[in-house]
Amino acid sequence: MNNQTTATVKRQSLQGQWSTRLAFILAVTGSAVGLGNIWKFPYIAGENGGGAFVLIYLLCVFMVGLPIMMSEILIGRRGRRNPVTTMRIVGEEEGGSRKWALVGIMGIIAGVFILSFYSVIAGWAMSYVFSTAGGSFVDADASQVKSIFDQLSGNWKLSAFWHTIFVVITVAVVAQGVQRGLERLVKILMPALLVLLLVLLVFSMNSGYFGQAVEFMFRPNFSALTPSGVLVALGHAFFTLSLGMGAVMAYGAYLPEGTSIASTSVIVVLADTGIALLAGLIIFPVVFANGLESDAGPGLIFQTLPLAFGQMPGGVFFGTLFFVLLSFAAWTSSIGMIEPAVAWMSESKGIKRGVAAGILGAFTWVIGFGTVFSWNLWQDKTFFQGTFFDNIDYLISNVALPLGGLMITIFAGWVMCRNSTSDELNCGTGQMYKTWRFLARYVAPVAVILVLIEASSGGMVSDFLSKIGD
Ligand code: PFF
Repeated sequence: MNNQTTATVKRQSLQGQWSTRLAFILAVTGSAVGLGNIWKFPYIAGENGGGAFVLIYLLCVFMVGLPIMMSEILIGRRGRRNPVTTMRIVGEEEGGSRKWALVGIMGIIAGVFILSFYSVIAGWAMSYVFSTAGGSFVDADASQVKSIFDQLSGNWKLSAFWHTIFVVITVAVVAQGVQRGLERLVKILMPALLVLLLVLLVFSMNSGYFGQAVEFMFRPNFSALTPSGVLVALGHAFFTLSLGMGAVMAYGAYLPEGTSIASTSVIVVLADTGIALLAGLIIFPVVFANGLESDAGPGLIFQTLPLAFGQMPGGVFFGTLFFVLLSFAAWTSSIGMIEPAVAWMSESKGIKRGVAAGILGAFTWVIGFGTVFSWNLWQDKTFFQGTFFDNIDYLISNVALPLGGLMITIFAGWVMCRNSTSDELNCGTGQMYKTWRFLARYVAPVAVILVLIEASSGGMVSDFLSKIGD
């Protein structure tokens, strides 16, 4: 560690900058808010028993996610290059090893794999725009709605068709460059999504089952929580905030000097968490009102929301709009997944943005077939965690992202010297800085390590803690 290193060299990003702070906030929020909030959070909360899971998830988001988000942004702005180069040069400047570049490489690989399954689910959302608009769900009952979902997910050609479209539109925006492609999109879509969620919330509040949903989500019942549930909560904190794989680091590279990283991160984390909770409060009343199972898994929102739309006045309109916005939310998220890789290929390998995006898209598209087949041709080919999709999802969210996040927080907290981090956070060395540093150096790494040990040993940490308690 070199305590003499200060902000003497300020690099310029090679890919331009965000035009305003708001543009950056919207871009990171656009990346954070996506299928993770609306599709994944409710179903994993449902599978893991609700309240206790939600509580652990919130703890992970604020105690681990928030300091790591600040770390990623500050490292990104410090290096002002793609995550691989940034980790290498900042590592060297701080007297560490060049090998930190491996964290960036791991992130690039994770991003391609995330997009491979994300685009399949986003494809379903796009297909639902048309089924909702066409009135398929009007007055449908739970079993009819389920069979519409089964027809889509069970038909690999149809799923592959929508998966292909989603990969193509993602590549198209990334090829244009993040600012030009993305800024315009998120400024309108994020607020629109929020308004629509509030409309749906009003519907759910009037469903008669709102109280039951609130209780399910907020009354912790720790007997329903398993060690692997704790790992899922931690993994989801990374996934939902787009952390641990360099996406936010890549965006941080385009952040103007002087913009406050702390307040920006707090806003993003609050917005992301608020939207996830909102999604849960919309979906669970529908689940309970219709006697559905809360642990229906990845199909949950596709089997619950259409029921609500089928019953509410103006449901065709609201439902169509909802799936349009969900597809857009997925789109603004998917861009960040391959941005680290595209920036790396263009900066380090001299490959044009458009070509790089195309190559990555093709790669991701092929891998995505594994997920497409997970609901049909390969449905019964299960191993380790389950289907191909289950395995990719597990390895990414519960292994790669927490490990990436662990490395990033160790890097910002232990490898980078105080001067560099306080300079980059522009907050002096007062209480705010001390809090961040404490969380980044101790709380976040220890939490991630404990959770990984707990889950891989099937409950060693909780056994130990309960022994001490006795
Ligand atoms: N945060 C996104 C979501 O919750 O849907 C998922 C995601 C986006 C993960 C971008 C990683 C990433 F780079």
